[in-house]
Amino acid sequence: MPGINVALIGYAFMGRAHSNAYRQVVPFFSPRLTPRMKVLCGRTGQAVRRAARLLGWEEAATDWQDVVARPDIDLVDISTPGDSHAAIAIAAARAGKAVFCEKPLANSVADARRMLAAAERAGVPHMICHNYRRAPAVMFAKALIDEGRLGSIRHFRGTYLQDWINDPSFPLVWRLDRRRAGSGALGDIGAHVVDLARFLVGEIAAVAGALETFIRRRPLPDQPSRKGRVTVDDAAAAVVRFENGALGTIEATRLAPGRKNYNRFEINGSLGSLAFDLERMNEIEVYFERDPAALRGFRRILVTDAAHPYIKAWWPPGHIIGYEHTFIHTVYDLLDAMADRRQPEPSFVDGVRNQEVLDAIARAATSRRWVEMAY
Ligand SMILES: NC(=O)c1ccc[n+]([C@@H]2O[C@H](COP(=O)([O-])OP(=O)(O)OC[C@H]3O[C@@H](n4cnc5c(N)ncnc54)[C@H](O)[C@@H]3O)[C@@H](O)[C@H]2O)c1
Repeated sequence: MPGINVALIGYAFMGRAHSNAYRQVVPFFSPRLTPRMKVLCGRTGQAVRRAARLLGWEEAATDWQDVVARPDIDLVDISTPGDSHAAIAIAAARAGKAVFCEKPLANSVADARRMLAAAERAGVPHMICHNYRRAPAVMFAKALIDEGRLGSIRHFRGTYLQDWINDPSFPLVWRLDRRRAGSGALGDIGAHVVDLARFLVGEIAAVAGALETFIRRRPLPDQPSRKGRVTVDDAAAAVVRFENGALGTIEATRLAPGRKNYNRFEINGSLGSLAFDLERMNEIEVYFERDPAALRGFRRILVTDAAHPYIKAWWPPGHIIGYEHTFIHTVYDLLDAMADRRQPEPSFVDGVRNQEVLDAIARAATSRRWVEMAY
């Protein structure tokens, strides 16, 4: 099989998830392009060398600029915080590399657009990591909607709830700093809901929004006796109108005690409904108006049959899969598109649109007015 050499920048949470995906995709999916885990890049030599050994990378490096310029690298994977995405992606695209970037694409619409422009000018494949599209139940939901089984879509109700910063003594990490993260719950987890809304229902036409920061000062990570200011939202809520006439709500918070990774949506159409919850990601609930009246009711489908998306590569029915598989599926689809010389999806175009919606929600929250999208 032809191979491509991968460079991964960042080796913590997403770096580990992506490394696992490159390792697992070959034995389970036999992609037509084989990823070779060439070089892992971080900022501190000893730590990145240890991570490279643990995660299965051939080499370790500490300067991403050198790495993206290397002639033996074909694909640059950006798994760093948002403030470095634009610089790395633009340099990688200019060097002729395919670029796979974590969400949100950047910390501003302007940077996201510059990234898209650089990738298009260079003619390189570009993809943003909205891995939840690749949960089999979500792909299955997409197929049901596209087949018309729900009729015309009227409602999208998406919530992404977590609780990891509920404790006021939780430190002021980079995700709570606007300069590094761009925004708070809105861009961190709300971005995933926006992507699912666009993927499943369609383009968003207008938004109204509200943002709130409940805990405004937190201990500094390296000096816990001192506090610093939280400069992002703790929680975001939006009402959205879709171009196809559907009405939606989007809520994202990291202050919902008991909700760990509650990425849930419900979609109602003229002929039925469906509901998904990431914490029960192997299942989907569906309801069809066309069922005989006496049999009508929500039913739970265990999305682990060979007929369901991606499952053939895994286990027999009922042998469930997990969070990490969404990244393996994403990497498989990236490699498959590259083998066909197709543009992978979601691309930086989706990343820019997503960023525009996030920005519009923030502007609507400030102005307390609806914002019309102008793509
Ligand atoms: N797709 C998802 O479900 C998902 C989940 C979590 C995070 N993310 C996104 O992934 C990205 C990274 O988040 P994370 O949770 O992995 O963060 P993290 O803090 O766990 O890891 C960040 C990594 O980037 C490295 N890094 C930071 N600045 C760097 C630089 N200038 N040069 C080289 N390396 C640098 C750090 O050393 C660390 O290894 C963010 O954009 C985040 O929004 C996506």
